[in-house]
Amino acid sequence: MKVLIINGPNLNLLGIREPDIYGSETLTDIEAWLNKQSEANGHTINWFQSNQEGDIIDCIHEAMGSTEGIIINPGALTHYSYTLRDAISSVNIPTVEVHLSDINNRENFRKNSVIKDVCIAQITGLGKTGYLEGLIKLITNTV
Ligand code: DQA
Repeated sequence: MKVLIINGPNLNLLGIREPDIYGSETLTDIEAWLNKQSEANGHTINWFQSNQEGDIIDCIHEAMGSTEGIIINPGALTHYSYTLRDAISSVNIPTVEVHLSDINNRENFRKNSVIKDVCIAQITGLGKTGYLEGLIKLITNTV
């Protein structure tokens, strides 16, 4: 299976950014960890991170025809980006929403996800394991 994992704004700062909430590992650490999990064997995983909403939309469009599943942690775009929601619902690629922290137990504005109902699942609060759970969801969704 060909999977695209997208991380949105500020996730390039993992390891530095609020480590009490997001942990001390960098995004590169998380990528390396996920790529070596046995569940990743036999699958092609491409990683993309951007702080630019438009670049994330372009990346989702470009996935059409070549990618069978998307895992996305959109950062704060989760809470307000109808553009992102429309991109996900336009391309018809099964998509899992992942958050490192438990967005339901933080500030009120984080409880709302505008992409949740165009995704096949929402995984929150599991740290990096959320990306692995997302991969498992995509794999089991297609078998
Ligand atoms: C986040 C949660 C968002 O509310 C926040 O804006 C982020 C990270 C998470 O992974 O927990 O940037 O998506």
